[in-house]
Amino acid sequence: QPTYLHDYQPPAYRVTHTELKFDLAPSATKVSARLQLERNPARGEEALPLELDGEGLRLERIAIDGQALNPDEYAQGDSGLTIHRVPERFALETEVVIDPAANTALEGLYRSGSMFCTQCEAEGFRRITFYPDRPDVMATFTTTLIGDAEREPVLLAGGNPVERGELPGGRHFVTWEDPHPKPSYLFALVAGDLEKVEDRFTTASGREVALQIWVEEENLGKTDHAMASLKRAMRWDEETYGREYDLDLFMIVAVNDFNMGAMENKGLNIFNSAAVLTHPQTATDAAFQRVEGIVAHEYFHNWSGNRVTCRDWFQLSLKEGFTVFRDQCFSADTNSAPVKRIEDVSFFRTAQFAEDAGPTAHPVRPDHYIEIGNFYTLTIYEKGAEVVRMLRNLLGWEAFRRGSDLYFARFDGQAVTIEDFVGCMAEVSGQDLSQFMRWYSQAGTPEIDANGHYDYAKGEYHLTLRQRTPATPGQPDKQPLHIPVRLGLVGTKSGHDLSLTLDGEALGTDTVLHLREEEQHFVFTEVAEAPVPSLLRGFSAPVKLRFPYGREDLAFLLANDSDGFNRWDAGQRLAMLALDDLIAAHRNGVEKVMDPRVIEAFRVLLGEESDDKAVLAEMLTLPSEAYIAEQQPVVDVDAIHAARSFVKQGLAMALRDEFLAIYEANLSEAPYAPEPEQIARRGLKNVALSYLMSIEDERAIELAQRQFEAGHNMTDVRSALTLLTHSSRGDLAEPALKAFGEQWAHDPLVMDQWFTIQVTRPQEDVLDRVRFLMQHPAFSLKNPNKVRALIGAFAGQNRVNFHRIDGEGYKLLAEVVIELNRLNPEIAARIITPLTRWARFDETRQALMKAQLERIRGEALSPNVYEVVEKALA
Ligand code: ARG
Ligand code: ZN
Repeated sequence: QPTYLHDYQPPAYRVTHTELKFDLAPSATKVSARLQLERNPARGEEALPLELDGEGLRLERIAIDGQALNPDEYAQGDSGLTIHRVPERFALETEVVIDPAANTALEGLYRSGSMFCTQCEAEGFRRITFYPDRPDVMATFTTTLIGDAEREPVLLAGGNPVERGELPGGRHFVTWEDPHPKPSYLFALVAGDLEKVEDRFTTASGREVALQIWVEEENLGKTDHAMASLKRAMRWDEETYGREYDLDLFMIVAVNDFNMGAMENKGLNIFNSAAVLTHPQTATDAAFQRVEGIVAHEYFHNWSGNRVTCRDWFQLSLKEGFTVFRDQCFSADTNSAPVKRIEDVSFFRTAQFAEDAGPTAHPVRPDHYIEIGNFYTLTIYEKGAEVVRMLRNLLGWEAFRRGSDLYFARFDGQAVTIEDFVGCMAEVSGQDLSQFMRWYSQAGTPEIDANGHYDYAKGEYHLTLRQRTPATPGQPDKQPLHIPVRLGLVGTKSGHDLSLTLDGEALGTDTVLHLREEEQHFVFTEVAEAPVPSLLRGFSAPVKLRFPYGREDLAFLLANDSDGFNRWDAGQRLAMLALDDLIAAHRNGVEKVMDPRVIEAFRVLLGEESDDKAVLAEMLTLPSEAYIAEQQPVVDVDAIHAARSFVKQGLAMALRDEFLAIYEANLSEAPYAPEPEQIARRGLKNVALSYLMSIEDERAIELAQRQFEAGHNMTDVRSALTLLTHSSRGDLAEPALKAFGEQWAHDPLVMDQWFTIQVTRPQEDVLDRVRFLMQHPAFSLKNPNKVRALIGAFAGQNRVNFHRIDGEGYKLLAEVVIELNRLNPEIAARIITPLTRWARFDETRQALMKAQLERIRGEALSPNVYEVVEKALA
């Protein structure tokens, strides 16, 4: 029962205004709706039946223009309701009763603790009332909430509050009006006993906006960073994209039970508490930065998503890819730009590449789906952002900005397509982007094989680029893409970027080659010295690039490349070559030997005082086990783990004093601030400590314990606790875990971290601990954060133990998926991901993983899990 892009038809009826009334009660909330509808001329003259979506609704009344309908005038099914004949223009009234307390899927109206909240994207609104629940139906909304004055003193919805009052029986109401037409997926309400933190923002044109963050009382001290981030994001969007906020009120609400990070509902963003609350004592630097990024992301959606929205859900990346690109640039401007790029790319190359190579691979714009909830993916979000970034790079910022202005001006208030967006970019730049559009329709990660040689006699550098995209499910044949390859040639004598001349044209020292054919040759002339090419600078396209670099070449680039990103990448490639040898040695039972060139390269890095500390911390971080796995034809989790530990320990032994010096040089007594300079110091210090702890250095153990006990901030405490817990010195973990667990038992977000630290231990007995912790009073399968912190972290990050050769890790995950399939299908369909990657492993593990997928398939499945399991076993 898939939905296909090519079946798209405009809606038969439009909604011009929606009036909703909620009489809130935990198990029986009455929703009264009055929709102003009119026939859509785009569908012709003929009077079509009215189709409304609706799931799990108990219909109590239905009337057109005040006239109750007879049962033979409409038909009700599992997924909606059809009214056979309707006038051209009319008012539809319905009354339904729903049960928020029983809603564990966390879609539609549900309870989180004692509050009511909603999540409507993509198709949650149909669980609230009968409606044409599709993004191309946009209406103004008036929403009245009626609640218990004591239990729900706060009643919020999108837009502006226009009326409030007391009602008999201890009830009260508030009416909200949203003047901006919006699709149903942007509707939201929140009701509960909440407190607010308030601030103000004056827009560039002088509009006074009240900013409110609503939280449960105990979290009042944790909103400063989100508020500061929000104000920075508002200013940034004005300055960078010329986008201003358009209501008098902007609200954020923190809820504990939430499937995703956050949601951009018009005027009323709802956030997973983990994506908004911070405090130096409870949140790490990474969490502070994530909050900043997500607050900005949701705010930016007000234009890229809300003012201009998607015609249908196939266009999801239209808003998500663009908005992720926007939030990435915001974070880069606010913090360290190279580090932001390194973080984003290393995550992308690990997780999105794996998705693109797996059974659920899909294009940035898919052409069919069973359950749209399964398509909130790294491909739609992150690859979509890379595609927008390529557009920015192809056009240059100025033309890109003009294209963005045109897009917002032309399509304001409309629901549009990816062609509309790219069309604006083509129009303002005069560039032909037709081949570029393949990035949206072709799944899979393109691979570029590059080769080059220097012709001493002629002073020429010859570069050949060959591209190919491997087949993905349903797409056996791929067309060549338009790939921007940014590069420089670094002179081996001078250590500097050489001037580039191509076809007689001088291009400066850094240029972008346009690869459009399957294979292209480029001849750089007047190249005065032998160069090492620095290719795909800044990760200028989301591809895998292979070049036969020798280790000396990589060490050279690591020391000399002018592109910070490629310096880091050269280090990663160098480490990968050494790791490859060690993985082979491990598998062949040969003694492992540490490559001295890696040690030398690290020694050079550690000696560089002047370097950007944040970049240095990234450079000192070895490729993750997941990233290494991505590079192997058949993943051998044990060999990877052994090889990586060996390199880490080898470096720690050879460079012990240097790491210790780095640690000590970056200690600081300054009061915590989540600012780049401090974050860099802490990052560097904690990387150094992790090397030292890998060899159970006595001094390091002392330092880790001291750092843990000092409790300056969660970044340092968590680092130390992780190192103590993961140490092979078995006696260090328990006392620290116990102290931490007791200290933070009252704080769910800190307990999430406590779970994650424990279930990611490399020790062999960890699976028992996972099962034990699942019984812990702070754990609940109904809370997505807990599921991610415990099950997700175990299956996703603890590779050696999840992939135990007895299959117990797989079994545990299958049990959880089966249980969650009933409770929360969206989370079930996500948490299953590691099992779907079975094809990457040895035959024994393949069989074990498939057996668990078969076992899941034997259950009565939600569409979400069904779609993923079917693809995984296809
Ligand atoms: N639009 C939201 C965001 O990216 C995410 C909503 C996800 N909803 C879902 N049901 N998967 O900010
Ligand atoms: Zn988004």
